[in-house]
Amino acid sequence: MAIKKVIEHPAQVLSTPCAEVTEINDELITLLDDLYDTMVEYDGVGIAAPQIDIGLRVAIVELGEERDILEMVNPTVIETDGAEIDIEGCLSFPGLYGEVERPSYVKIEACDREGRVYELEAGGFDARAILHEIDHLDGVLFDSKIKRVITAEELEEMYANEEE
Ligand code: CO
Repeated sequence: MAIKKVIEHPAQVLSTPCAEVTEINDELITLLDDLYDTMVEYDGVGIAAPQIDIGLRVAIVELGEERDILEMVNPTVIETDGAEIDIEGCLSFPGLYGEVERPSYVKIEACDREGRVYELEAGGFDARAILHEIDHLDGVLFDSKIKRVITAEELEEMYANEEE
């Protein structure tokens, strides 16, 4: 387990579609653990393998209030529904926040760290986080989807209002 350096935009590894994981082995386990350590260190809610310079279809996200960790190996989107605009950021774009439209519902299929296939349905911010990370695995970055950039002042104001 180790904290890795997060790769920042622009970088080739971030804009290149990742390769499928073909074998469940110790390297995959280490990768998942490194992703977790790095996400916690950088205070993110999700992180994808290319962000630590590994071009494999592996990503993790924190889900819900409990912040349960979802590990996704070779995830695919089976179904989406609805549309919602909300604010996103990305560890590879320090200081950039913007409004991004995403489906409000997603159903995915992926493998866990033991190679077991699972399906998962998610909505709201969980769906957004999952789709943001799967985009990373396709070499798609959130800045290309920003409809409106949110300034630091606006962001501060929003947090201030939330805390009231
Ligand atoms: Co990101």
